[in-house]
Amino acid sequence: MSALPKCLISAGPTREWVDSVRFLSNPSSGKMGYALAQEANHMGFEVTLVSGPVALNPPEDVLFIAVESAQEMYEILLREFKHTELMIMSAAVSDHRPEFLGSEKIKKNKFPENLKLIPNPDILAELGKAKLPHQILVGFAAETSDHIENARIKLIEKKLDWVVVNDIASNVTGFATEMNEVTLLSRQEETFTLPFASKSKIATGILKQVWK
Ligand code: CTP
Repeated sequence: MSALPKCLISAGPTREWVDSVRFLSNPSSGKMGYALAQEANHMGFEVTLVSGPVALNPPEDVLFIAVESAQEMYEILLREFKHTELMIMSAAVSDHRPEFLGSEKIKKNKFPENLKLIPNPDILAELGKAKLPHQILVGFAAETSDHIENARIKLIEKKLDWVVVNDIASNVTGFATEMNEVTLLSRQEETFTLPFASKSKIATGILKQVWK
């Protein structure tokens, strides 16, 4: 058995298919999660990266698991979480999936006017319920307003040790940007801000703060 601490990271968007050619998703590029996986590897963790579809190559020396839907991500993460000391949930999970209309392309004149949306599991909240005392669970809060208040609610309700507050309304720190600026809030009511920097630098800052 390996003596290295294990770190599980989720990244990228999820893709929720409507039929064989259409899906519901979001613009997450996976850059923050991939930077976290790379930096965690450099810091000596044994890293597993679970990622939705993105245009990035997985970092070297990282165990990589590709997923598409929130349901798939949920099943893999719940399984992998059991063997993990540190889990960082940076994926942009679709909160809903459309009712699946079938594995052929639905013709436009047959396409329903309204799509029925079904709630996806809140993966992070389920990880929070499954968490054991030795495990550290870190979530992201993607916010466009009342950032700190909303993030603090996620920290408590999802039973996290840390939440990373990310302003997705900004052009420079939102989805698919190269740089980021985040605030970390802990269960012990600590607050740390990592000033505007590359996602690699932000990743290192997050890891150093949550794994001491
Ligand atoms: N998350 C998750 N499963 C979901 C939705 C979100 O695991 N179905 C995780 C995200 O990966 C992130 C955290 O929960 O680490 C917060 O996600 P965010 O999108 O900020 O908030 P939501 O919980 O979706 O709530 P809201 O949309 O109301 O802000």
